[in-house]
Amino acid sequence: MTNALLEDVDGLTTAPLAAVLGAELQAPVIDGATVRYVNLDYAASTPALQSVNDYVQRVLPYYASVHRGAGYASQISTSLYENARRTVRTFVGGREDDAVIFTRNTTDSLNLLAGCVPVDGEVLYLDLEHHANLLPWFDRPHRGIVAAETIEGTLTALEEELESGRVSLLAVTGASNVTGEILPIDRLARVAHEHGARIVVDAAQLAPHRRLDLVRDGIDYVVFSGHKLYAPFGAGVLVGRPDWLDAGTPHLAGGGAVKTVKVDSVSWTTGPARHEGGSPNVLGAAALAHATEVLAALDADDWLAHESALRNALIEGLAALSGVTVHRIFSDSTDAIGVVNFSVHGYDAGLVAAYLSAEHGVGLRDGKFCAHPLLKRLGLPSGSLRASFGLGSRHDDVDRLLAGLASLIRNGLGTDYVVDAGRWVPAVETRAFPDWAPHTPGTAGAAPCTTD
Ligand code: ALA
Repeated sequence: MTNALLEDVDGLTTAPLAAVLGAELQAPVIDGATVRYVNLDYAASTPALQSVNDYVQRVLPYYASVHRGAGYASQISTSLYENARRTVRTFVGGREDDAVIFTRNTTDSLNLLAGCVPVDGEVLYLDLEHHANLLPWFDRPHRGIVAAETIEGTLTALEEELESGRVSLLAVTGASNVTGEILPIDRLARVAHEHGARIVVDAAQLAPHRRLDLVRDGIDYVVFSGHKLYAPFGAGVLVGRPDWLDAGTPHLAGGGAVKTVKVDSVSWTTGPARHEGGSPNVLGAAALAHATEVLAALDADDWLAHESALRNALIEGLAALSGVTVHRIFSDSTDAIGVVNFSVHGYDAGLVAAYLSAEHGVGLRDGKFCAHPLLKRLGLPSGSLRASFGLGSRHDDVDRLLAGLASLIRNGLGTDYVVDAGRWVPAVETRAFPDWAPHTPGTAGAAPCTTD
């Protein structure tokens, strides 16, 4: 451990590891009080790193067209964008010739790749994936299999499928967005390669928590999102072997993606530009690249200790509450990111989430986490709760969640709740919304991926 400030009286490393925007955000609660907002929803979208925000403010005055202008600001914006590719490639330990394609997010990246996988082979995936790593494969030859109860059993099941020789791509998450359990991507890559297949790792959840190394682990493609990596400026990325990408269907037909255009025919270019039609999101790419530099500079021991301390404290605290069940996929998983999934007996998950928000100022995610097949298999067809944390999290966040749950179990709900447009909300909403985002009843929304 290198940072004494991280150690609290119990020796736990539970102060924030990095400054994030919104760390001291005040949230109203239903009884009229105001409390520090506790963000335990990092797995859905992380807050922005303060340094990412500072960086964006620094480069914003130079914002101009990319690849399209002779002006000084255009040249700088172009440089910023192209340098971002190199930074991200370094962050993932990519090969020199790996393409780095900026997209909107992980979902976009996987849809892009789906248009490039040769159609004479199948895409193989597990039922534990979130929808971004399921749905893009449906329009092409594909096979989804049920993961075994153990990681070892799952490796065996995948190997049996790969032995068919029909698989060209194994698509697998690096860490479950539902339970946080980490999959052995190096071993999966080896098994895929032994059977002539490639592997894409959906690192939307893993990249914000663990170092990636494509060369070391033999990963062919990796995808992740800026909005889960402390850089919520609308960019995601796909990094990987260029041959399929250069031959695949251009992801976004438009200016910049072409060599020549006639009035009714086109010759597409190769390289990242083939898939990046239209004006690129230079600020998103720059923000994402800067966030990767911040993560790369973290002390690996501090990072892991911070996360483990919070995760262990949360799991121990949940285990001490009667009627709370923590969910996992694999009986033999030994490593997990800062994501904990649980249910409270006798309460709908959405109701607990609404209660924690309205009565305790704690934000977490409920529902099916865009992973319907897995939730069904885990016996949670109506969903569960997920607390997730990261660089800006502290021990008090865990304490506040546990205190809210303990109070629920002991005293029940403190107010009435109703379902509004598919989501539990207080029957009488007393919390003020800012005038730039006024409360609009009826739009809380059937939470994406909550309903069937
Ligand atoms: N964005 C989805 C999540 O919150 C998949 O896990």
